[in-house]
Amino acid sequence: MQKILITGGLGQVGSYLVDRLCNIAEVTVLDNYSSTTREFVPEGVKVVRDDILSQCAREMVLQNDVIIHTAAQISVAGSIEDPLFDARNNVFGTLNLLEAARSSDISRFVYFSSAAVYGNPEYLPIDEAHPQNPLSPYGASKLSGEKYCLMYNKAFGVPTVCIRPFNIYSPRQNPSNPYSGVISKFMEQVKNNRSPVIFGDGSQTRDFVSVHDVVELVLLAIENNRMEGEVFNAGTGTSTRIDALAEVIIDIYDADVHIEFKDQRSGDIIHSYSDISKARSIGYRPEVKLADGLKAFINGQ
Ligand code: UD1
Repeated sequence: MQKILITGGLGQVGSYLVDRLCNIAEVTVLDNYSSTTREFVPEGVKVVRDDILSQCAREMVLQNDVIIHTAAQISVAGSIEDPLFDARNNVFGTLNLLEAARSSDISRFVYFSSAAVYGNPEYLPIDEAHPQNPLSPYGASKLSGEKYCLMYNKAFGVPTVCIRPFNIYSPRQNPSNPYSGVISKFMEQVKNNRSPVIFGDGSQTRDFVSVHDVVELVLLAIENNRMEGEVFNAGTGTSTRIDALAEVIIDIYDADVHIEFKDQRSGDIIHSYSDISKARSIGYRPEVKLADGLKAFINGQ
């Protein structure tokens, strides 16, 4: 059985990867419990509580065949408050794992980047060749992690793959966290019979991708050698208006609430959606339609 290390395995994406992989691989989680979405793991999964910057993390890389690196400082606002903390985690933490990978014989190192690396879109849909001009320390640190991954592939042959997720949603995102995504917020508001609050006029768009589709892309990344040394967008290739999203959620709950409009967030990106031709070319097929994904969300899936 393949041995897979999932850093950040208690987080939003990592925990779904654990669930998907634990029956087909020997899964170990490395997590420092800084933003856990759950406290338990499926039977048979080993959890090590430590930091990606530790010596222990390096040893764990050496003990596994595949590394999926989702652990990160994930708050954009947090990165603006403390860029050094952000860089320590997202740049040096990644580098620490890569250094171990350099002297190991792992078959894959999957790095979770972010669509934040693109900054303000210059054209749509956003393909992987789109200029990368991050607008936050978070975007810069994620891009830096990517560059190290690609460099370690070219210079040292470490089999890295980088994934750039667009707006991932899942019920394992804590709605009370001020930095959690719009879907978690709207769900929580409408469920409690409160108005979903839209910042701006609601015409802005995003590419909402179910965590389950992102997990399937990671599975492809583990198996497909053509993905090595490459970067892939993880989205759906479609865009949804924020006001339409609010309407769908109101509909699903059959709630008697109206949308509330507030001032646009400063620096908010107006339109964003991915070009996923590159991922499609290696077999990625996002299957979860937004309405279905939102219904599954309500059922906690
Ligand atoms: C997302 C990421 C961010 C990343 C950025 C660029 C999340 C939570 N954030 O930000 O880390 O840097 O992509 O790739 O995934 N909105 C409302 N009402 C709300 C909350 C949000 O109207 O209660 C609006 C926002 O103004 C925005 C849209 O919904 O226009 C999406 O917001 P959000 O889910 O926070 O994600 P991004 O801004 O796309």
